[in-house]
Amino acid sequence: MSEHEKVLVIDFGGQYNQLIARRVREHNIYCEVLSYKTPIEKIKAEHPVGLIFTGGPASVYLESSPHISKEIFELGVPVLGICYGAHIMVYTLGGTVTEADENSQAEFGRTECDFDGSCALFNGLRSRSVVWMSHNDHIEKLPEGFRAAAHSAKCPYAAIEDPERKFYATQFHPEVNHTEQGFDMLGKFLYDVCGCKGDWTMSGYAQTAIDEIRAKVGNGKVLLALSGGVDSSVACALLSKAIGRQLTCVFVDHGFMRKNEGDEVEKAFADWDVNFIRVNAGERFLAKLEGISEPERKRKLIGEEFIRVFEEEAKKIGKVDFLVQGTIYPDVIESGAGDAAVIKSHHNVGGLPDYVDFKEIIEPLRLLFKDEVRKLGIELGLADYLVWRQPFPGPGLAIRIIGEITREKLAILQDADLIFREEIAAAGLDRDINQYFAVLTDMRSVGVMGDGRTYDYTLALRAVTTSDFMTADFARIPYEVLEKASVRIVNEVGHINRVCYDVTSKPPATIEWE
Ligand code: XMP
Repeated sequence: MSEHEKVLVIDFGGQYNQLIARRVREHNIYCEVLSYKTPIEKIKAEHPVGLIFTGGPASVYLESSPHISKEIFELGVPVLGICYGAHIMVYTLGGTVTEADENSQAEFGRTECDFDGSCALFNGLRSRSVVWMSHNDHIEKLPEGFRAAAHSAKCPYAAIEDPERKFYATQFHPEVNHTEQGFDMLGKFLYDVCGCKGDWTMSGYAQTAIDEIRAKVGNGKVLLALSGGVDSSVACALLSKAIGRQLTCVFVDHGFMRKNEGDEVEKAFADWDVNFIRVNAGERFLAKLEGISEPERKRKLIGEEFIRVFEEEAKKIGKVDFLVQGTIYPDVIESGAGDAAVIKSHHNVGGLPDYVDFKEIIEPLRLLFKDEVRKLGIELGLADYLVWRQPFPGPGLAIRIIGEITREKLAILQDADLIFREEIAAAGLDRDINQYFAVLTDMRSVGVMGDGRTYDYTLALRAVTTSDFMTADFARIPYEVLEKASVRIVNEVGHINRVCYDVTSKPPATIEWE
């Protein structure tokens, strides 16, 4: 992909780093995120047409804060600094940044801002609009060559510029939606200042990726573990177009899929030019999990069994040359995070380990964000069902049945979950709610149906909104929709006499119950 014009986002640890990268790509410009620690030679070798410095939680005057070498400003490449990125630019080039005090210029949230239309970032835009501020520190004295380009009531340097050297900086965050015209401001930096043409499109990407895969694979054999999730499905479609029957997809149906899901996945790939192997291993997984109710144990057993099944299939196929992984860009970006506590052991069919005898790994999606993976899926003509599929955990419904898993409980949950999904879709909420599903608790309670007493399961409904699945809020579903789902579930599915809605956010809860 090296022939594309490229912008580098230099990451100073802010919360919007990936968002900035996505905004740049929405302008059809390829972009990567690199740590501020990246050596200058590496940055140079990437031949960026522009650099964007992100925000960050630190104050520039602390020794422990991220700093950057002055040399980066000597590359002759335009720079846009955002918030902390603005401070670091000012600080490094000889201006001053001041700590907030009691008369501070700290600003948080929506702020009215006035722009100077002669600045390339604001040229042709409305001269006053709302921006999103989030800063304690502020620019006190500009470095030589700079001038003010925007101000707010509290902040005389809401934006600054040195047009001669093509350095621009904003105290506010143009990348967030709350900044009106922010997307356009980024566009002006990219197109008018950096001189980008916008050569990053999905059809272009698909063709380049297909050519590269063909060149790499030659007439070798390729193996892909297909889960039916968006990433592995799009990878499958791409490889199918590139190398057809040289690809073998193994879809291990562990029996914990949602209602009819195994068949739907199989159907979706029926017309694609690939070798498709579906392994119906439901009985085997059920047997393995018999009597197990501890969540981590369930996850581990399913993960291990999955590998066993896949391994057996791979052996039948014989020696393969390449294994496909559905790695996407957020997995690739260096993260500064330390060792996080293990909350749940994730089982991801994309991440198969090294037991299969293969030469090399192919990661055809490693440059893409999730929404770009979807765009690519659409571009390739993949079924809508797969492109817009909500995330589904590797261990499937096994971790949505609390306690021991039985065939009966699995059937109950599949039926109830289908009804909930149907009602969410019927209410037109399926694209607004990021994940929604039913959980079968192991609690029974007393109810009355007809004239008789019942003693049956309690079902929980869970629906969340989230942008990254790291934190989430429970979805504010209208009562009427919940009511309809609840009435249908209790009437149409046996052995459920009570339905609850989970109103906890993450944290303190997690999205899945196990
Ligand atoms: P939690 O429950 O940790 O879930 O808040 C966060 C997101 O991850 C999904 N999830 C998984 N995905 N393998 C996966 O590929 C797994 O083992 C797994 N467990 C949870 C979950 O559905 C949610 O989207």
